[in-house]
Amino acid sequence: MRTYLVTGGAGFIGSNYIHYMFKKYGDSIRIINLDALTYAGNLENLRDVEDRGNYTFVHGDICDREKVSSIFAEYDIHRVVHFAAESHVDRSIEDPDAFVRTNVLGTAVMLGCAKAAWEEPDGSFKEDRKFLHVSTDEVYGSLPEDPNAYFYETTPYDPHSPYSASKASSDFLVKAYMDTYKFPANITNCSNNYGPYQFPEKLIPLMINNALQGKDLPVYGDGKNVRDWLFVEDHAKAIDMVCEDGRLFETYNVGGHNEKQNIEIIHIILDVLREELSEDDPRRANISEDLITYVTDRKGHDRRYAIAPDKIKKDLGWYPETAFEEGIRKTIKWFFANEDWMKNVTSGDYMKYYESMYKDR
Ligand code: NAD
Ligand code: DAU
Repeated sequence: MRTYLVTGGAGFIGSNYIHYMFKKYGDSIRIINLDALTYAGNLENLRDVEDRGNYTFVHGDICDREKVSSIFAEYDIHRVVHFAAESHVDRSIEDPDAFVRTNVLGTAVMLGCAKAAWEEPDGSFKEDRKFLHVSTDEVYGSLPEDPNAYFYETTPYDPHSPYSASKASSDFLVKAYMDTYKFPANITNCSNNYGPYQFPEKLIPLMINNALQGKDLPVYGDGKNVRDWLFVEDHAKAIDMVCEDGRLFETYNVGGHNEKQNIEIIHIILDVLREELSEDDPRRANISEDLITYVTDRKGHDRRYAIAPDKIKKDLGWYPETAFEEGIRKTIKWFFANEDWMKNVTSGDYMKYYESMYKDR
């Protein structure tokens, strides 16, 4: 039985990936989920898999070398799928050190422990082992507004925020392991994800939650920054395909070919909310374009991201299956069906975060 060590599996993409993997492989794989349960980690995301005999949750920090090595000592790990990270750009602008610690040091620890467990005495690596490093398109910097400009795997790195600089550093560590030791790894650089279980500090769930409550919808700058949105299940599928068939040492860009300005996204959310809320739902009265509030821009705000997913399409046959219109509707319906999830994650510390992040904008 193949064993996967997933880091950050209690977060947004990690939990969607775990669901995807059990749906696809059932009892034929084992998943060990190592997560420190920061504000972004939530075991509620994994309620429906927690009783499986082939799933184990380990509460721990990826920077804790002893803990990580003990997992490799206890289980014969075939795949490391490394999601764990500090992931929110705005938080990185306030507290860069936390990002350096988890994203850079944590990745170094994961790599060191995997290498120690997988390396043979002659310096080669055991068969059927791979480290999949989940990274971001933000490492490439910002694109001009020219619609023919895209990020390719060959685009030079040019990170701007502390978050993207820390992810770029972690990518370079993985590249160094591949170049120096022929360590079996792949890197994926993906565009903006959206979907179920996304924490409402990110644009889409934040706007859905605020609109339903009739709260201001804070648009940074002129609202014309462009992101390339991908439904999270399509990302999970891409990661699985790279784990299975990606050529060792290669990088794959993953993106939705779905570029939209932030303001367009907000208008779509308001339209779909109106369509999906029943006539007698009291929240309908809250949904209004008047909630849109232009606020001070994010510092160093990248203007445009857009991935050309040509390589993963040509080499592995991956493509984004979920059209945005379908994905955003599914996401909104998921939030309707999981009101308690949203209530739980927005109680307590979330309000403190929201007050401090948005008070001076
Ligand atoms: P997230 O913030 O929702 O989840 C991160 C998870 O990592 C949480 O469960 C958290 O508890 C855990 N974690 C944080 N620090 C840890 C530590 N020191 N030790 C162990 N666990 C720790 O993030 P996400 O949006 O799911 O992103 C997952 C990965 O995908 C990240 O590496 C991110 O850079 C990358 N990525 C995200 C997007 C996106 O749009 N969200 C796009 C491309 C790439
Ligand atoms: O591109 C991939 C990246 O996408 C991932 O690597 C990051 O982990 C993920 O957080 C995401 O980063 P962004 O900064 O693009 O996502 P965010 O949802 O924070 O913001 C999306 C856009 O919306 C961005 O241009 C900023 C803007 N925005 C965001 C928030 C939270 C607003 O205008 N208002 C807001 O309140």
